[in-house]
Amino acid sequence: MALKITVIGTGYLGATHAAAMAELGFEVMGLDVVPEKIDKLRRGEVPMYEPGLEELLRRHVAGIEGSTGRLRFTMDWAELGDFGDVHFVCVNTPQRHGEYACDMSYVDSAIASLAPHLKGPALVVGKSTVPVGSADRLAAYLAEHAPAGADAELAWNPEFLREGFAVQDTLHPDRIVVGVRSERSEKLLREVYATPVEEGSPFVVTDFPTAELVKTSANSFLATKISFINAMAELCEATGGDVAKLAEAIGYDDRIGRKFLRAGIGFGGGCLPKDIRAFMARAGELGADQALTFLREIDSINMRQRGRMVELTRQELGGGPFLGKRVAVLGATFKPDSDDVRDSPALNVAGQIHLQGGQVTVYDPKGMDNARSLFPTLGYADSALEAVRGAHVVLHLTEWREFRELDPAELGEAAAERVVLDGRNALDAEAWRRAGWRFRAMGRPGA
Ligand code: UGA
Repeated sequence: MALKITVIGTGYLGATHAAAMAELGFEVMGLDVVPEKIDKLRRGEVPMYEPGLEELLRRHVAGIEGSTGRLRFTMDWAELGDFGDVHFVCVNTPQRHGEYACDMSYVDSAIASLAPHLKGPALVVGKSTVPVGSADRLAAYLAEHAPAGADAELAWNPEFLREGFAVQDTLHPDRIVVGVRSERSEKLLREVYATPVEEGSPFVVTDFPTAELVKTSANSFLATKISFINAMAELCEATGGDVAKLAEAIGYDDRIGRKFLRAGIGFGGGCLPKDIRAFMARAGELGADQALTFLREIDSINMRQRGRMVELTRQELGGGPFLGKRVAVLGATFKPDSDDVRDSPALNVAGQIHLQGGQVTVYDPKGMDNARSLFPTLGYADSALEAVRGAHVVLHLTEWREFRELDPAELGEAAAERVVLDGRNALDAEAWRRAGWRFRAMGRPGA
């Protein structure tokens, strides 16, 4: 009989995972503790902007015309426990307030709510990003609190999906990593992932700590690449070099590779910043803090870029205070193709200039609602052109395709001054200059 799958937590990760499991042919039940989320999902609506996710969901949510009906949602733990053979835990692990460590309360409470309902053999699979050592602790908790005892097993299966590519990354992962303690767990997970494995996704079997560490080390490596190139950008600024050319040239060495070497205002979002901090905090608890002190530098190089962008803007406006200056900000989300503004470098730069007296007007293709609720005192415009109208300087802070396709001549007519600063090294400098703009990109003082 086909496996029945449950997904606990229906944020980015959970909603995508649930829809993907239904797409792979399984009967799926999703649970969340927020009633509004469940109501939306039952109607086939996705609580965030993620390309392709709504279509995928609507193809499977029960009750939607023409759907397979394989995907249902509940808020009832007993129903979930009865239904599933394999339970994926996809709740978030944010940074703890006032600390570097991550907040495990959602994971802990999900496991505590699920455990009493595991009456027969079941596999609980953690997907959330957690401090190394958590799986060991949670496995012991399950064995003690589930009526099924040792038959309620745990596995750890970290997730590597990127926002903006969540559907593709979930259906066609570049690797599947499973931390398991029994052949039975491995066999069940091979069954769950049979389709992507047949298509060629590598399936890596490890112990618990390795599986947990794979996730945090992957995100730390990505953060390191970005901060490395941003450090080179600082040197280019000091020497007149061009960081975009530098990245291209070192990237041809395939040991280095060209990806994740785009200099600019740095990384943000709900993952990279908090994951490197939680990793440092955990290393400290384990007495291995020296091994990760370099991440402190990665974090500070990253945070420094936001301030550098503010200072570059000040310079281009003549060096004085921002008072009375109109600043157009293109982009509010932490990256394109997402509506996520969590720890967004773009919004941080916009906020700093605003708090120093500048009149900031922001436009973002998808992040306006989230930006407004996080930073209600900023000015907002309905289009890039409206944001630029009357501006003394234009800042390009999130590299949406829409911004690359703007007509610099048309924007030039609307702006008070034709000065544009590219904080993402993604605009076509020549096209802007031809239209009469003074163009300046981070890490490319002469270009
Ligand atoms: C990241 C990882 O890439 C995923 O593999 C991982 O699963 C996910 O975190 C997670 O832990 O859940 P994501 O947060 O969606 O995914 O964002 P990224 O695509 O990694 O981008 C992060 C930030 O780095 C963005 O602000 C982006 O603008 C910035 N970035 C990226 C650069 O500044 N330069 C680059 O060259 C690349």
